[in-house]
Amino acid sequence: MADKNLIRQRFKKSLKTYCSNAAVQIIMAQKLTDMLGRNKFSSVFEVGCGAGILTEKIKEKIAYKSYTANDIVCESKHYAEKIIQNCGFIPGDIEEIETDLKFDLIISNACLQWCSDFEKTVSKLAGMLKPEGILAFSVFAGGNISEVKTVLGVGLDYYSLDDFRQMFGRYKVILLKEETEKLYFDSPYDVLRHLKNTGVNTFSDIYFSKKKLRIFDETYRNLYAKNGKVSLTYNPVYAVLCAK
Ligand SMILES: C[S@@+](CC[C@H](N)C(=O)[O-])C[C@H]1O[C@@H](n2cnc3c(N)ncnc32)[C@H](O)[C@@H]1O
Repeated sequence: MADKNLIRQRFKKSLKTYCSNAAVQIIMAQKLTDMLGRNKFSSVFEVGCGAGILTEKIKEKIAYKSYTANDIVCESKHYAEKIIQNCGFIPGDIEEIETDLKFDLIISNACLQWCSDFEKTVSKLAGMLKPEGILAFSVFAGGNISEVKTVLGVGLDYYSLDDFRQMFGRYKVILLKEETEKLYFDSPYDVLRHLKNTGVNTFSDIYFSKKKLRIFDETYRNLYAKNGKVSLTYNPVYAVLCAK
């Protein structure tokens, strides 16, 4: 069960550092908006808008009449409003919020993997679509940041592409694909700092004593160092769905 308070706390803390550290999420927002197959929607609902990386991309590339954003972190409202004039905002956990509003495009970047019940959340969002509406999102799949999980032995459990394929059987799947994005850092410590600056809270409960940090550093370098850099692998999955 996801600890929503911890998620809220970590993402709130990372709002200021997020955009300058979230290189992969920026690529994902770019790709997701390229995959929609349309660039005109009357009403848009963005789930988990954060500091507005996807919001910026949508503003750049999509024509819309009304825009509503959501995030579990209420402070995200200011980020969305800075980017989109007259932006509506529904604060709160997407799994809990109740609304009768319906949208032509519901879109979310790098957020839904934080939900306790991913499948139910997708079904809820699909139920918020207008006829002919599209639900488009990116999430992370198995193998995501696996280096850190291997070295520390803890981390989120992610679904595989096959799991997603099975889950989406009752929708018309316009697009479903997995990609790999690799980042390179000067040291394993920089990997941890990067995760913290992007709000990834899975490892933040671990107390890194000097000894633990040294072992982490050595193990990570032994397994993942090449040409003086260490790698971190992200596995985004992109999905574009609509009603059958
Ligand atoms: C990795 S960030 C991505 C932010 C933004 N979508 C982007 O393109 O950069 C994930 C965002 O989802 C939000 N979030 C996580 N769980 C959520 C939930 N259950 N309901 C609403 N927002 C949530 C976090 O607060 C955070 O802002």
